[in-house]
This record gives sequence, C-alpha cells and structure tokens, in this order.
Amino acid sequence: MIAAANELKPVLVFDSGIGGLTVLREARVLMPERGFIYVADDAGFPYGSWEEEGLKARIVDLFARLLTEYDPEVCIIACSTAFTLAGAALRAAYPQMTFVGTVPAIKPAAERTRSGLVSVLATPGTVKRAYTRELIQSFATQCHVRLVGSENLARMAEAYIRGGAVSDEAVLSEIRECFVEKDDHKTDIVVLACTHYPFMANIFRRLAPWPVDWLDPAEAIARRARSLVPQVADAVHPDNFDFAIFTSGAPDFPTRRLMQGFGLKA
Ligand code: DGL
Repeated sequence: MIAAANELKPVLVFDSGIGGLTVLREARVLMPERGFIYVADDAGFPYGSWEEEGLKARIVDLFARLLTEYDPEVCIIACSTAFTLAGAALRAAYPQMTFVGTVPAIKPAAERTRSGLVSVLATPGTVKRAYTRELIQSFATQCHVRLVGSENLARMAEAYIRGGAVSDEAVLSEIRECFVEKDDHKTDIVVLACTHYPFMANIFRRLAPWPVDWLDPAEAIARRARSLVPQVADAVHPDNFDFAIFTSGAPDFPTRRLMQGFGLKA
C-alpha cells in the first residue's frame, strides 16, 4: 500500500540565512519521501556577531512558534553558530522534539590529518564557544588546531549565492590565516564550520596558497537526520510542503529565485 505521503511529517531545516541550504540539498537526496520546511532567521542575520544570551533566547523563542505551527518529524539546526550555543537549551525546552545539530567537524579532521595542522574556519561566535573548545579538548589535543573567526564570509556567501560579485582579495584576506606552516609541516585540512561556506568552496580552492581538504559536514548531518527519521516504504513525495520561511517576512526577488532553484516556495 502506498503511504499517504501528505500525512508524513516534514523535516524542518533551520539557519540564520541561506547556509542551511547546503545541508538541505543533501538531506533531500536521503529523504526523498519527506517534505521540507526551510527556515531562515534572516531578521537576525548574521548570528556570528550576536551576544550569546540574547541569541540563545531568540532561537528558543522562535522554535516555540515553529514547532506549534509545523509539527515537524525532526529539526535540523543547520547552523554551527546557533547549535553550539542553543542546542542544549532547545533540547531542554522541547524534549518531545528531535534536534539534529551542526558542530565544527573537529573530530573527523583530527582523525584524517596527516600533518597534524588543522584549521577551523567559522563565524566569530562559533570560534568563541565553549562547545568548540571542548571539541578540541576531547578529540584533537594531539593536533595543532587554529581557530579562524571570519567577520565577513557569511555575508559574502549570501551575496555570492544570489549572483553578486565577491573580490578574490576580500575572500583571501578572510581565509589566509587558515594556512599555517610549522616545523616543515603545513595545514592539510580546513574545517568549514559555518554552513554558508561550502557555497564558496570553489573560490577557496582556487585562492588557497596550497591544496588542502575543505571539510564540509553537510552529508554527515543529513545521514544523521535520515537515521532518525522513520523510513516509509512506497511513500511518494508530498505536495503540501517544500517551502521556505524568512523571519523578515520579506525575501527579495533574488532570494525567492534562489529558493525556487532549490525547489522551495518562499
Ligand atoms: N550558517 C551559520 C553557521 O553555520 C552562520 C552564519 C551567520 O553568521 O549567521 O554558523
């Protein structure tokens, strides 16, 4: 019997802006039977420069409304800046909901590096977090980990993905610090610890002073979500979901066009 797909609960993907789309595109492939609701808190963007308590309260409040209104199967917090700050508070406030988080991929980077030099490219918020320090303490004490907090890359990625121009010089000045040389060794892995950055990975590769692995956690996050969402045999994709919500209430034309490209109604 074919499952009544419109009765399957949707998957909610959350970010401050367009970064979560890097996770959504992977999650879609693994969960073709589910509808997706993409939520961008663009009224609060960029999260990277918020003061911690204010941002945490904002995110927890926002989810009270989102969960009541959309009753998702699972929520993917596709934003390191949000999850490293508010993940525990969200799970405590809404224990009935499953939250899949995004954290800097420090553990896989520490396992894979050959040179022992790893860099973490993230927002200033993620770099400051106790959560990030704890990941280093737990999984990467044998490595030299450089944390690079970028003030501008998330904004640049927002412009770039909408077709705007970004200068090589400006990008290079944000990523340059990731490249470390020490005792004849060079950085060989850069963790993309902000979901906006994979959209610019082609530019990073071109500008990098030497080749490195740019670690994008999107697929691993999507696999984790898939493992928590019940499989329903023979379900067909529903037609009542797949839309994007912007907390500003007013996505501009390039944003609506972008969402359409990802199969989302804005
Ligand atoms: N996409 C978000 C992240 O993964 C951050 C962007 C922002 O500064 O709001 O951290």
